[in-house]
Amino acid sequence: MHTRILPPTDENLELAAAALRRGEVVAMPTETVYGLAGPALDERAVAQIFAVKERPTFDPLIVHLALPAGRASGAVDWVEHLAAVGLIDAAALVPLARERVQALAARFWPGPLTLVLSKHPRVPDLTTSGLATVALRTPRHPVAQGLIQRAAAPLAAPSANRFGRISPTSAEDVLAELGGRIEFILDGGPCAIGLESTVVAVAADGALALLRPGGAPAGELEAIVGTKLLTPTANRQPPTTKPAAPGMLESHYAPAKRLMLLSAPVAELRPSDAGQIATWLNGKRGVGVLLQAGEPNAARAKLEALLPGVAWEIASLSPAGDLAEAARRLFATLRALDASPAVELILAEPVRQTTGLGHAIADRLRRASA
Ligand code: TXA
Ligand code: MG
Repeated sequence: MHTRILPPTDENLELAAAALRRGEVVAMPTETVYGLAGPALDERAVAQIFAVKERPTFDPLIVHLALPAGRASGAVDWVEHLAAVGLIDAAALVPLARERVQALAARFWPGPLTLVLSKHPRVPDLTTSGLATVALRTPRHPVAQGLIQRAAAPLAAPSANRFGRISPTSAEDVLAELGGRIEFILDGGPCAIGLESTVVAVAADGALALLRPGGAPAGELEAIVGTKLLTPTANRQPPTTKPAAPGMLESHYAPAKRLMLLSAPVAELRPSDAGQIATWLNGKRGVGVLLQAGEPNAARAKLEALLPGVAWEIASLSPAGDLAEAARRLFATLRALDASPAVELILAEPVRQTTGLGHAIADRLRRASA
């Protein structure tokens, strides 16, 4: 199959929407990462998403919704709306749960927040991997919004990468991942956030659990609802064979090359750290280095002094140390180091700020190194 990257003209949006209405899948931009979209209530289309991604069916999908036409998010009664379109079981939510869903959706939809709620029987088991819950998000990207509206159906959309690989943040990245497997990629430019949405489960009693850190800072969510988010290790659910958020599988977002996390930023490495790095190198000469901040040249001088004879390829996520910029560039930078013929091993600096976007970046790097 020949894959075409389409600029997001009205005509092309209509072309992609028509494919969705026929039950086909297309790649669409969102503000977080690109998604591989198909009608969420069409089991055949959902099966196609799993097949194209080579994703195991125990890893459930996020269902993407349009903002109700002509209404601001704060003016929408989200629980009513989600129940009316047949996605959730509103009766399963106590008033506290409803209140929290409304407060979070009013603030973060459209945007990088996914809420996991008790599902409506109409949502196919394949979409939710047989779970009693469904993950929901209203994306902010105008191309995603336009496509969902034209398709006139909620769209299931996992990140548009092959399973376990780095999420795509541009149309070209999607082509590199899924070229030849899908017909259309709508081009919405580089993703503004660059990391996947924050996934929060809302229990029937209103308790909130952070299943995946992402584009919406957990601290802001907590401030809005006035309570702490539980974390899967901190909540008291009995252990199950399936992870609570199967996307939290350890080896995820992984480059093909080996990635190791440094114990300290390059500027703070000491001669005694050289031994550890040399062990990882195991005779290799070409090393890619992912800096969280600062200029590559300062790091280069330091590394050359520490380990002479190594060929360094150094990339900084944000020379100025801006976290939003670092998040936006993380996946593309990893992808570039992974693709560089000179790089045999990737070393990544640890993340200093471990809240908000810093937490999400640290999470992705930890998984990439597993
Ligand atoms: O930003 C994003 O969320 C992107 C864009 C395309 O919207 N999508 C995305 O989808 O990251 P995916 O499939 O790569 O990740 C979905 C995450 C996984 O961790 C999955 O396990 C979790 O959401 N998830 C989905 N449904 C769930 C459910 N019912 N209960 C718990 N976790 C769920
Ligand atoms: Mg993914």
